[in-house]
Amino acid sequence: MSAVAHSIHELLSRRVPGYSLEQPFYTAPDIFDLDLQNIHYKEWLFAIPACEIPKSGDYVIYDIGAYSVVIVRGNDGVIRAFHNSCRHRGSVLCKTKKGRNPKLVCPYHQWTYDLDGKLLWARDMGDDFDMSQYGLTVVHCRVIHGLVYICLADNAPDIEPFASVASQYLAPHDLENSKVAFESTIIENANWKLVWENNRECYHCAGNHPSLCRTFPEDARAIGSSSDGAQTSELDQHIARCEAVGATSAYQMSADGEWRFVRVPLNGEAESYTLDTKAAVSLPNSSIPFKNAGSLLKFHYPSTWNHFLSDHALVFRVTPISPTQTEVCTKWLVHKDAVEGRDYDIQRLTEVWLATNAEDKEVVENNQRGIDTPAYKVGPYSVVQEGGVIQFGNWYASTMADKLAPRDQLAAE
Ligand code: FES
Ligand SMILES: [Fe+2]
Repeated sequence: MSAVAHSIHELLSRRVPGYSLEQPFYTAPDIFDLDLQNIHYKEWLFAIPACEIPKSGDYVIYDIGAYSVVIVRGNDGVIRAFHNSCRHRGSVLCKTKKGRNPKLVCPYHQWTYDLDGKLLWARDMGDDFDMSQYGLTVVHCRVIHGLVYICLADNAPDIEPFASVASQYLAPHDLENSKVAFESTIIENANWKLVWENNRECYHCAGNHPSLCRTFPEDARAIGSSSDGAQTSELDQHIARCEAVGATSAYQMSADGEWRFVRVPLNGEAESYTLDTKAAVSLPNSSIPFKNAGSLLKFHYPSTWNHFLSDHALVFRVTPISPTQTEVCTKWLVHKDAVEGRDYDIQRLTEVWLATNAEDKEVVENNQRGIDTPAYKVGPYSVVQEGGVIQFGNWYASTMADKLAPRDQLAAE
């Protein structure tokens, strides 16, 4: 094992674009901490779909790094986020991952907060105790067309450019009138960047995803992931066909590479991610007037990639747990009035992506294990197939270089 001390600045400056990152980026606790401090604690993160907390008092806890955040719908219908820590002596307020409460009552000494975070009741604190000074600590929260985003930074970056573009692309997808039909949470024993790298290419699909490959195209030019921006004629035609019915579909990436939208066709006449390629839900949650509308692909680093189909939607959330552990949470969203057993079958709806997630977990964990060996050397990405991975690596390196303070030195072995 090398005992050479590196600074992350050195590692970033000697990075060769188009090649995988050096080992410490995937293994070192110091770099993992810098990733959290500079990316996850600074950027907007997708937390939950708003439809998961449809009624006032519904809440969900999102744990990210050292933080625990309670996301709750108020009596006014507004969704807010607070740090899950009581203003008395700091106890967690909500002990369970999700639930419904008329008020937020601390389990320790029962300080009681309104759903908007205001402190309503605290026993025996004296006559001069000013309750208005002890409301819950607010976390930035923005609902964007049914997707709840949070930001842990004191000063959140401007989310409005993303929000306005997202609202255009998501307009045909009725996420507010949807429900979570199924959710799956898995831990992939790999660094969060490996989970993303794997997501951003389909070079591995033919060899690993037999069920997904029935419907999802592998060609990078068909899914908006080519290095040079080239698109297949099928993708061009699909975008034109969807835009003709008012569904914004053309490839669009933010200037800094943090997010991207494109509506891509599925293989042949496929309608959805099912084994028989037909729609999985008979009561759709999109207004696109044809079933073979393909998939609106959205990614937003560092926390989410999504697929919006004509009949349902899939939201994925990526949460780093440790240098070599990442939580991947997947939710299947269907129309809120769709009835299980009548309008959809859970197995048919979920089997392709449950299998795909399990297959991805295996390849990503194999990737990590090989990188963990002292013999690992950086390797070249395929310009033809792995344009999306190259893009992710460039985004990561430039974001870290921009945000790192000069003092962020570390000793990586
Ligand atoms: S720590 Fe919450 S009421 Fe005491
Ligand atoms: Fe995959």
